Order: sequence, then C-alpha cells, then structure tokens
Amino acid sequence: MIKTRFTELMGIDHPIVLAGMSGQTSPELVAAVTNAGGLGIRGLSDKTADLIPEAVDAVRRLTKGPFGLNQLLAFAEDDEIRAVLDAQPAVYSTAWPRDNQDLKAIFEMAHDRGLKVMHMVPTVADAVQAAAAGADVIVAQGTDGGGHIGLIGTVAIVPQVVKAVSPIPVLAAGGISDGRGLAAMLALGADGVLLGTRFLATPEAALADPFKKAILDSDGTDTIVTDVSDILMGGEWPGAYARVARNRLIERWLGRPNDVRRHREQLLADMFEARKRGDVQESILYWGQGAGLIDEITPAARVVTDLVAEAETILTERLPPLVARKAATR
Ligand SMILES: Cc1cc2nc3c(=O)[nH]c(=O)nc-3n(C[C@H](O)[C@H](O)[C@H](O)COP(=O)(O)O)c2cc1C
Repeated sequence: MIKTRFTELMGIDHPIVLAGMSGQTSPELVAAVTNAGGLGIRGLSDKTADLIPEAVDAVRRLTKGPFGLNQLLAFAEDDEIRAVLDAQPAVYSTAWPRDNQDLKAIFEMAHDRGLKVMHMVPTVADAVQAAAAGADVIVAQGTDGGGHIGLIGTVAIVPQVVKAVSPIPVLAAGGISDGRGLAAMLALGADGVLLGTRFLATPEAALADPFKKAILDSDGTDTIVTDVSDILMGGEWPGAYARVARNRLIERWLGRPNDVRRHREQLLADMFEARKRGDVQESILYWGQGAGLIDEITPAARVVTDLVAEAETILTERLPPLVARKAATR
C-alpha cells in the first residue's frame, strides 16, 4: 500500500484518481475505480441541472465508496453548480474557471455541505489562487495530458506547484499511464496521480471501440495542441489549449480559424456523424501523450492495482539499491 496525505485525507487505499472526463466517465468506470480503492470522479459538464441527480444516483447504485463529481467552472451555470453540490459527493472537482468567477465563494458552498474541493491548474499562479480560495487538494496538470491543458510539462509543473501550495496535497496529471509515472510523481512531491487517457482504454469507459483502439495504436506523437477543435465546437475556453488526435479533420483545418468559423455548422454536423460511425480520422478526439504507454484495454480496477504494484516495486526494489550502491562506493 502507498499511503500519502491524499489517501489519508480521503480515507481511500490508493493515491489514484480517475479524471472527471465528462462524456466518458460512465457510472461503471467511476464505481470501478472507487471500488478498487482509488477515487472515481464523474464529469458532469455535459449535464444540465435537471439531469444531475440521476447521473449521480447511477454511480451510487454501483458503489458505496467515496467518489467525486467534476465541473468545468467556465461552463457551469449557478443551478448546475448547486445541483452537483446538493448531490453530496465526497469531492467537488473543478477546473478552468473564468477570471470573474469567485472561487472562494464556490469552494465555500462546497465546504458548507461537508465536501472536499479538488481544483486542477495548469500554472503556479492558478495554484496559488486556488489555495488562497481554500482548495483542499490541487491537481497540477501538465501539457502532456489529453483534453484541455496548459503549456508547461508535467515534470516541470508538479514540483513548482508542490512548493507553492505546501502543505496542501497535490496530485499530478498529464501523461501518467503506469506505475513508473506514479513513482516518479511521488518523487516530485505529489501525493497521488490523476489519470484520464489511461482510463479511456478500459472496457468501462464510455467511448466507442474504434476510439479506444486508436489510443492503443498511438505512440503519443499523433496528438497536437490546437484551438481548431474548440473553434469547431464553439466553446470559448478561458486560456486553455486542447490536446487532440492529429487526424485528417484537424490537419485539414489547421491555420484556417476563419474558415472553420464560416463552415462551422456543417463541419459540426459532419463531425457528430463521424463520431457516431466511429470514424477516427473525422472526429474530434482527446487523448494525451501517455497513450504511447498504453497497449491493451484493461479493466479499470486492474489499472488501479497494476499502477500501485508497479510503483511499489520501483520504490522498494529498484530505487533503494541505487542509493545503497552509491554509499558503498564512497
Ligand atoms: C477525453 C477527455 C475528457 C476530459 N474532460 C475533462 C473534464 O470534463 N473536466 C476536467 O476537469 N478535465 C477533463 N479532462 C482532463 C483531465 O482532467 C486530465 O487533466 C487529463 O486527462 C490528464 O492527462 P492524461 O490524459 O494524460 O492522463 C479530460 C481529458 C480527456 C482525455
């Protein structure tokens, strides 16, 4: 077992968290991660307030353990935030606020209901702001990750955030897909890891099979950080970039933002059709550089237990002799 301040705070066995990927975090996936001793998070940014209670009940039917609910603050209406908080998850997981949103007031609403707050950041300045607003856990997210990200790499951002917000526990995110990543992030001072892409390649993830297979086939070089996808989707993100699959759709429209805007309606309709038929080349797909470490569809519970077992072996067997050898040669 790997115990950290994060596992202690949450009362869970393993310092492993499922990223709240709205759309992909099925109740089965969330429950599988929680039931395996990690922390499952359901992303709810695709749900209006009236749909939120059932989306949460669906998780509760599958687990009695703690789980989180995630919202992208920039797109969350007040009634949606209230609906998520009223559902009483163990953790309220947030990311990407707008400048004019009062983080402190939002976090206080969560704390008033007895919830822990976990906030994801791409920069040190954002981490300091979230700490001042009262976040219980900060997720330092590197540009290696899938979906919406900043521009600093995981290995550089994690220790900076750890230093800036100490003693608040920090989770590392972005490009972590196995136990080597977990061990490395613990060495950087993190208290755990949050994984998106690795959990997409599980039977439980709500993602069509051709898209899961594309992750297995990827070595991580077939992703790109771009705003083409957001212009096409019509969402204006506060300072985020998107890491998406660099497929034919993206290649066709790179460097042509105005053309995307002009043809947006038709492009979007075509894209949703492509998604329905599982067309990897014509869909907007988010995955991270850590796809290069994933070569099989693995049940989510096994992802959790494999990560812990591999990290334990590295920490207890591979690394200690390196230090001992050095001492012995003096
Ligand atoms: C398909 C996909 C959807 C995502 N959706 C969300 C989301 O709704 N909310 C959020 O906070 N983060 C979201 N993220 C980002 C994750 O929280 C996380 O930072 C990222 O997946 C970590 O990098 P990794 O994919 O290399 O593990 C998403 C990521 C992916 C790949």
